[in-house]
Amino acid sequence: MKTEQQLFDDISLKGLKPLVKWAGGKSALISTLKPLLPKSFNRYCEPFVGGGALFWDLSIENSIISDSNEELIHFYKVVRDYPEELFNFISSMVVSEDEYYRIRGLSPSLLDDIHRAARFIYLNKTCYNGLYRVNRKNRFNTPFGKKEDVKITDKERLLEASKLLKSTQNICGNYIDTLKLLSKNDFVYLDPPYLAVSKYSDFNRYTKNFFVYEDHVVLSDEFRKLSDKGVLALMSNSFNENLLSLYENFYIKEVYASRQINCISSGRGKIKELIISNYPIE
Ligand SMILES: C[S@@+](CC[C@H](N)C(=O)[O-])C[C@H]1O[C@@H](n2cnc3c(N)ncnc32)[C@H](O)[C@@H]1O
Repeated sequence: MKTEQQLFDDISLKGLKPLVKWAGGKSALISTLKPLLPKSFNRYCEPFVGGGALFWDLSIENSIISDSNEELIHFYKVVRDYPEELFNFISSMVVSEDEYYRIRGLSPSLLDDIHRAARFIYLNKTCYNGLYRVNRKNRFNTPFGKKEDVKITDKERLLEASKLLKSTQNICGNYIDTLKLLSKNDFVYLDPPYLAVSKYSDFNRYTKNFFVYEDHVVLSDEFRKLSDKGVLALMSNSFNENLLSLYENFYIKEVYASRQINCISSGRGKIKELIISNYPIE
């Protein structure tokens, strides 16, 4: 009979799926992105990790992930350290409209680590469209998604994720600080909040800080610095003339992606997006 530790050691890490639903999540673009990765590299880094569709799919050990969303990174830390305790807590939670608003009303900073992480994934899975939205006071304010038969997560997925996260550097903060950790032949996949293509594409409201055009100009400078250091970089972004001129010295590919979260139904079709890299892509 194998011990819990042996069972954990046996878990194979390959093609994992995101634990949370995330605005701008890249699950639908995985098959487009994977052939564009460099053939070989040292460390993998995803500094705007969000739901981490590519990070989980690649499941590369010793990677670096970061995000400015404190609740998200706190959640990943609890998954890494206490997957079973977290699962047990989640199993005791009831999905209903009343419970949703009670749990949403709790202050994360007053909860213990496991309760705080459970609140995060509970709200993520039961809120309207998985949209992480906060008000000016950084309070999560997405309404209930009106589905009561939602499965929050399962134990196996938390254990797999925990195993991968144990070898991952998991940082809460600004992407610029994360990029400073990289050196020659590391590979970074940058998936920033997109530059809005219309006034309805309000995807930038992930945390209380928006990511506006000026932030994209700073990001393009960081992209240049990465190239100077010999770091391999690949970025996803919206199709936007302003971006084309910011990255005119790099490789740019146009791709079509289905957008999953939008506030107008006409925004759910396939839309043109950009993939930008500092190494040749086809
Ligand atoms: C497009 S989403 C990433 C989606 C992710 N690739 C996925 O598959 O789910 C962008 C992420 O960048 C984070 N973010 C926004 N501004 C940031 C900053 N200055 N530094 C680090 N992360 C930031 C947001 O919290 C959000 O999770």
